[in-house]
Amino acid sequence: MTNMSHEQKPVLLVTGATSGVGHAVAADLAAHGARVLLGARSTGSGHAAASAIRSRTPGAELEVVAADLSDMKQVRSLAGQVRQHTTRLDGLVLNAGEVRTRRQLTPDGFETNFATNYLSGFLLTHLLLPLLTDSAPARIVVLSSSNHAHIKHLDLDALSAGTDFRHIRTYSTRKLLTVLFVAEFARRLHGTGVTANAADPGFVRTNLGRHTTGPFWLFLKLTRPFQASPAKAARTPVYLATAPEIATTTGGYFANSRPAKPSPLSQDPAIARKLWGLSGDLLTQRDLASSEELT
Ligand SMILES: NC(=O)c1ccc[n+]([C@@H]2O[C@H](COP(=O)([O-])OP(=O)(O)OC[C@H]3O[C@@H](n4cnc5c(N)ncnc54)[C@H](OP(=O)(O)O)[C@@H]3O)[C@@H](O)[C@H]2O)c1
Repeated sequence: MTNMSHEQKPVLLVTGATSGVGHAVAADLAAHGARVLLGARSTGSGHAAASAIRSRTPGAELEVVAADLSDMKQVRSLAGQVRQHTTRLDGLVLNAGEVRTRRQLTPDGFETNFATNYLSGFLLTHLLLPLLTDSAPARIVVLSSSNHAHIKHLDLDALSAGTDFRHIRTYSTRKLLTVLFVAEFARRLHGTGVTANAADPGFVRTNLGRHTTGPFWLFLKLTRPFQASPAKAARTPVYLATAPEIATTTGGYFANSRPAKPSPLSQDPAIARKLWGLSGDLLTQRDLASSEELT
């Protein structure tokens, strides 16, 4: 990554910047001269992350914005905090994610993997879109997973309440939604100067497995020595957020900083369009967003 100009210091929000891949992405962006808003679950963990980054990059320009992204009212609060901190936003890295292998519902009645890994990003993108559009060219980078390709069939009606819940497959399904979201975003927002691309970070040594159970938990533990470092995994999302040669590339799916092949299901435009509509309906029906915010 090349050093960014200090006259035009870019401003980026990275969600889930307190751990793993997101922390490494935020650190890398800050080290190369960006002003980074660190998305954290709590202000305490956000400030701890900021201190850790400053210990390696003294003078790093960092601010903390805090919300539990499984709760859509808090997603709205996060967007408000971002608008208080900045009048421009050059990049949004939708990284926060979690794996829950037991079905749990959020205060809004959404299955937790669905809310955190997918719906929070859909809502946050819409709430910050005016800021991104005003700052264009701007980029959205969504952390996806190669796991999305394991899913060959999608029951859209079952997603939000998790009536399709099946251990780790539930997480993989929700990561598939992120690829569909990127493809549909690219179709709808084409020509606005705001791009969206998905990043597969690989298999990474992070805290992602801490809420998992059973054989999958054991699998993650045993394979830990073979998993990539967060610093290495951060390269693809940082590339998507900053590389000049892909400034206008949108709707792509990348691994190892190169275009990669997403699953055929993730590229089905009819499903992506339906998912977009369904996501909007879920939010408006619960008064979590207005139809004006979602256009
Ligand atoms: N690790 C892998 O092998 C792998 C592979 C493919 C894709 N990914 C994707 O990479 C992204 C980063 O994951 P990671 O592996 O770096 O895991 P991680 O170390 O667990 O980091 C996840 C980050 O997201 C935050 N987060 C989770 N739930 C949140 C919530 N409800 N509200 C606010 N923040 C929340 C976490 O904050 P707290 O620490 O406070 O929970 C943490 O900062 C995820 O989207 C994941 O799906 C990871």
